Amino acid sequence: MENSSKVKFFNGEDIPLELHKVRIVQKLFLNPIDQRLKAMRNAGFNTFQLNTLDVFLDMLTDSGTNAMSDNQVASMLQADDAYAGSQSFYRMEAAVREVFGTEHVLPVHQGRAAENIISQTFIKKGDIIPMNYHFTTTKAHMEINGGTIFEIYTDEALKIKSTVPFKGNMDINKLKDLIKKYGAERIPFIRLEASTNLIGGQPFSIANMREVRKVADEHKIMIVLDASLIGENAYFIKEREEEFKKSHVKDILLKMCSLVDLVYFSSRKVSSTRGGGICTNNKDLFMKMRDAVVLFEGFLTYGGMSVREIEAMAVGLRETTDETVISQSPSFIAYLVNSLDKLGIPVVTPAGALGAHIDCMGFLPQVPQSEYPAGALAAALYIISGIRGMERGTISSVRDANGNDVLADVELLRLAFPRRVFTLSQTKFALDRLTWLYKNRSLVGGLKFVEEPTVLRFFNGRLEPTSNWPEKLVKQFKADFGDSL
Ligand code: F0G
Repeated sequence: MENSSKVKFFNGEDIPLELHKVRIVQKLFLNPIDQRLKAMRNAGFNTFQLNTLDVFLDMLTDSGTNAMSDNQVASMLQADDAYAGSQSFYRMEAAVREVFGTEHVLPVHQGRAAENIISQTFIKKGDIIPMNYHFTTTKAHMEINGGTIFEIYTDEALKIKSTVPFKGNMDINKLKDLIKKYGAERIPFIRLEASTNLIGGQPFSIANMREVRKVADEHKIMIVLDASLIGENAYFIKEREEEFKKSHVKDILLKMCSLVDLVYFSSRKVSSTRGGGICTNNKDLFMKMRDAVVLFEGFLTYGGMSVREIEAMAVGLRETTDETVISQSPSFIAYLVNSLDKLGIPVVTPAGALGAHIDCMGFLPQVPQSEYPAGALAAALYIISGIRGMERGTISSVRDANGNDVLADVELLRLAFPRRVFTLSQTKFALDRLTWLYKNRSLVGGLKFVEEPTVLRFFNGRLEPTSNWPEKLVKQFKADFGDSL
């Protein structure tokens, strides 16, 4: 019998409890605020450009940063260094068959490599790809190949405050309308993204998947599932969908994968390793993509990954079906989100997967979207706490053909909770500094680009503040905290 991830406290406190122990640690650096301001300037007010020597809590992402288990690390020692026919690959393939229920697997070096291969193989100029919501790299690959994406989320999806359990659901009527308008022949596939990343890690339900499947079958359209955050989505299905309350997460995962034609994933997330894969039960689909893997990634038994990572991936995939593993990050996220919400600090609810998502238009109403409130809040939080979050707003989108900014639907600051990485006191520190920043929010101003790449500009772009607001913020911090870090 597996441990339940929920433990009640006698004193009634609703806090997460770690069902693992720390055995290897990494020293962190909480530098004085003047040093943090300097580091932010050097980073061009872009948290991607910080050196981790200057970062206290690295909440940038869960990608490649989930803590690995003892069994994962141990498995790396038995890696079979063979270019072709590596036993490590066959062990990983067996794990994929067991966890996703798919016969064929193509290894790739990370999630976007899978997106490259799927887009090149199936998308042609003029195609339409309906999806519940885009992800940055997904959209970029589809557009490079001549496709246009359509996000057909439900009306509730973009509401910051909500109690709807499945904000990642696809709007079935909008899907039907889209097919009617453009014709099924222009739709190479429908894409579903588990735990919809850019709208706050929000899951979809199996009921919704079944409806999408029905429409897809009527029109003979393939469904592609981005399973990078499938474990958390399955956990939320167990928590929130009546039919699956008594199901095991393992069976929910299998059910989800059985409703689609193609599954791809970033194993940087799903299995707490570094790599990716494309899986299917359809041999024809597999054959269509196979040669592109050899061309872009590597031979079919390593796909650009280290065999050590492939071994750890096999173990990590199976661990993703363990509820004590998969519930850890959502329970810490829920603790932070619910605490912020109680204090009236605007945050996406209900709490989802991956991280806490602060609503920056609500937090900084004085900063217009053209001055990037989510980027500004990410910079401000780093300066006053050493916490590195990620901008998920207009900076993360790209300009239109006329060079105008495309304002994002939501301006979010994402504070990621990689699995089993942060403690409760660190989470409380994040809560404390966010509370202080909210009280002093009127001091924060906007940002403007000084160096702007045309593709995925959020990674390498450089910005500067539109006024001397960072200095004012530092002055107030010192007045309130003295010489405390
Ligand atoms: N799909 C989703 C839903 C993702 O969240 C990511 C990555 C990818 C695809 C691409 O995978 O990074 O391995 O190439 N998300 C990371 C994040 C980068 O921070 O959310 P990748």
